[in-house]
Amino acid sequence: MKIDRYYLDNAFLMEREDGARYVLTKNLVPGATVYGEQLINYEGIELRYWNPYRSKLSAAILSGAEHLPSFRSKRLLYLGAASGTTASHVSDLMDLDGLVYCVEFSTRNARNLVKLCELRVNMIPIVSDARQPHVYGAFMEPVDIIYQDVSQPDQVEILKTNIEWFLKKSGYFLLALKTQSIDTTIPPEMVHQKVLGQLESSGYQVVESLNIHQYQAHHWFIIGKIRDE
Ligand SMILES: C[S@@+](CC[C@H](N)C(=O)[O-])C[C@H]1O[C@@H](n2cnc3c(N)ncnc32)[C@H](O)[C@@H]1O
Repeated sequence: MKIDRYYLDNAFLMEREDGARYVLTKNLVPGATVYGEQLINYEGIELRYWNPYRSKLSAAILSGAEHLPSFRSKRLLYLGAASGTTASHVSDLMDLDGLVYCVEFSTRNARNLVKLCELRVNMIPIVSDARQPHVYGAFMEPVDIIYQDVSQPDQVEILKTNIEWFLKKSGYFLLALKTQSIDTTIPPEMVHQKVLGQLESSGYQVVESLNIHQYQAHHWFIIGKIRDE
């Protein structure tokens, strides 16, 4: 078994003798697991396995993402945080001087999210609809990164609205695109291409778009930013 630091902050890549690859993050809260993930000790650091079947960001890393922005010390707005599985790994990546604002509208998911945020001091729960940034705008500051995973037909509109409200000019957005939520009547690749076109024509630059189907059916992971004038 071989473990190397990944280029991204507190992330590590593990390769087993049989060729299986895993991503792990340095646990911000040693001893505590979030979704039953395995913990291991590596050179005195506690690492958490990051399940690519439960997290599109882990799937993107294992699918070869090369342009993810640094998360360390950043402000990040997370839309569709659910009970905090991926957000907890983002919280690991950014460490104590970063902050994740976690928006989730399902009260059932938000219950677990709020409990998790009590343990992870760099996560702030916001129980609200991501379509209504004016509601949570009062609790927010401009952010360096917007991460969105909402599986909604209007996911591109939701992203654009939040970019306009909160993303710094130099910021990045990370979109977990679920093509099936947008249109099932045309092939997924066509939906993907249509979304890339919508993002480009809205003034954004798509830096990288990864097919993550190996881990997440019907999903692409899109890394983008506001195009320089
Ligand atoms: C696929 S799950 C997210 C999984 C999570 N990102 C993770 O990897 O741990 C999508 C989540 O988005 C939430 N959601 C969908 N539409 C939303 C909206 N308009 N505002 C806030 N949350 C929303 C759902 O309730 C659900 O919890």
